[in-house]
Amino acid sequence: MIRIAPSILNANFEKLPEEIAKVAPGSDFIHLDIMDNIFVPNKTFDFDRSREIVTESVLPIDLHLMVDNADYWGPQYSTLVDDGVFSVTIHLEAVKNVRATLLKMKEFGVRRGLAIKPGTDLEEIYPFLNEVEMILIMTVEPGFGGQKFMGEMMGKVERARQWLIDENLSDLWLQVDGGISAESICVAASAGADTFVAGSAVYRSDDPLTKVAELREIAMSCYLQKG
Ligand code: DX5
Ligand code: ZN
Repeated sequence: MIRIAPSILNANFEKLPEEIAKVAPGSDFIHLDIMDNIFVPNKTFDFDRSREIVTESVLPIDLHLMVDNADYWGPQYSTLVDDGVFSVTIHLEAVKNVRATLLKMKEFGVRRGLAIKPGTDLEEIYPFLNEVEMILIMTVEPGFGGQKFMGEMMGKVERARQWLIDENLSDLWLQVDGGISAESICVAASAGADTFVAGSAVYRSDDPLTKVAELREIAMSCYLQKG
């Protein structure tokens, strides 16, 4: 099962419902990047604006919180589940009490994601594998769209996929975010990623909907294929 979530970070913020509608027929989710200018050197939407975007979106929202104090914001954003938030991903580097925070988020019924930046060891998330529904391995330094895919993160993706196989956690999704294109999506899918965020590849394309279909087709044919 391959999932594609276009990121609207590089879409036209003035016309978000239309930008989302453009890709909706071919996409599983819309990936919404929340940045606070503290955890990352960039700022996007505050809570109220996020809620508006979620409410107006015709697709369920995959929320990626790049904010400090995830102990507070993870549960807070999880309250938007009835407005259309499907998953909420917090960064391991931004949360103090990981277990308690994930437990609070669970109460709202969102799919919970745990993300790591390129500099964070994969092994740090191992203790929480049974308490999340998605792992996000960043393939760029979080903060901005349009950066180059870090192929050197594929070792983490391969190891994470092996964990999921070994521990029988086939319901746990393995997401990559950053620099996903028609070329890099094959690399990430062959390493074992099954859930893909693509921002500029989709929204800088002349035909975003066709681009999503193309990405999905490539990911399906490359998934866990070696060589
Ligand atoms: C980067 C964000 C990404 C971003 C991806 O910090 O988390 O979701 O939108 O954009 P591209 O696909 O252009 O790298
Ligand atoms: Zn993101």
